[in-house]
Amino acid sequence: MEWGMRNRLAHLVQRDGKALFLPIDHGYFQGPTHCLERPGETIKPIWKYADALMMTRGILRNCIDPTMPKPIILRVSGAATVVGEDLANEGLITSTKEVIRLNAAAVSMSVFIGSKYEHQSLSNLAQLVDNCENYGIPVMAVTAVGKELERREARYLALCCRVAAEHGARVVKTYYCSDGFEKVVEGCPVPVVVAGGPKTETQRQVFDFVYDSIQKGAVGVNLGRNIWQSEHPVAVIRAIRAIVHEGYMPKEAHELFEKVKAGKS
Ligand code: R5P
Repeated sequence: MEWGMRNRLAHLVQRDGKALFLPIDHGYFQGPTHCLERPGETIKPIWKYADALMMTRGILRNCIDPTMPKPIILRVSGAATVVGEDLANEGLITSTKEVIRLNAAAVSMSVFIGSKYEHQSLSNLAQLVDNCENYGIPVMAVTAVGKELERREARYLALCCRVAAEHGARVVKTYYCSDGFEKVVEGCPVPVVVAGGPKTETQRQVFDFVYDSIQKGAVGVNLGRNIWQSEHPVAVIRAIRAIVHEGYMPKEAHELFEKVKAGKS
C-alpha cells in the first residue's frame, strides 16, 4: 500500500486497530434530522472524542470550522430522499477534485444490495474506488441502508460487506446483528465498522451491541443518532470510546456514562 493511502487509513483506524467515527450526514436524504438541525452546534461538545467525522460537503463547508483537527470522511453519494421515489436510486454527488480540495481523509458512499438499484450503486462504488485510488484516498462503503435495513441478518450483511470489499472498498460500514455477526466480519477482508441505527430503547443496549461488535471482530463504530440524539451525548460518546479504545465491558461503560452524566468525571 502506498504512503498516502496508509497515512489516511492510519488517521481513521487508530494505532490500537480501533476506530470511532461520528457521522452527521443524515440530512443528505432526510433533511434536518432531530438534534442535527444545526450540525455545527451538535458536534461542539463531542467531536473531540471521535477519531473521524462523516458528513457531506455542504455541511462541511457551512457548519464546520476548518481548523477542527479531525479527519473527515466525505459522503459522496446521494441525490435521493425520503420523500422521493426510491432511496436506493443514488448517484455520485461529489467529484474527486472536490474531495481533494476539501482535504478529506476518506470518502463514503452507500451501496443498496438486493435493491432495484444494486447494479447502479455497485458500479458507482467501483468507479469511485478507481478515481480515489489514483490519489490514495480510501473509500468506505456504507451497506444496507434504505428498506434493506429490515434485513438485518448475518447472511445478508455478510454478503453486502464481502461484495463491497470485492468492489474495492477499503473499509465497510454495516449494521450489527445479534446472531452470527462474527461471520459478517470473517467474510470481509477489510475492516468493518458498525452503524447504530435509530436510537435504542435503553442506554445499555448501545453499550451491549458496541461491545459485542468489537468482540466479534469489528474495528469500531460509525455511530450517529445513538450519540447525538441522546440527552447526554458527551456521556454516551465517552462510554463508547471506552469500549472501543480501552476495552471497557458494557457494565463499566454504563458506569462511566452515569458518572459523566452526573458531572463526576
Ligand atoms: C445513514 O445513511 C448514514 O450513512 C449514517 O452515517 C449511518 O447510518 C450511521 O448513523 P446512525 O448510527 O445514526 O445509524
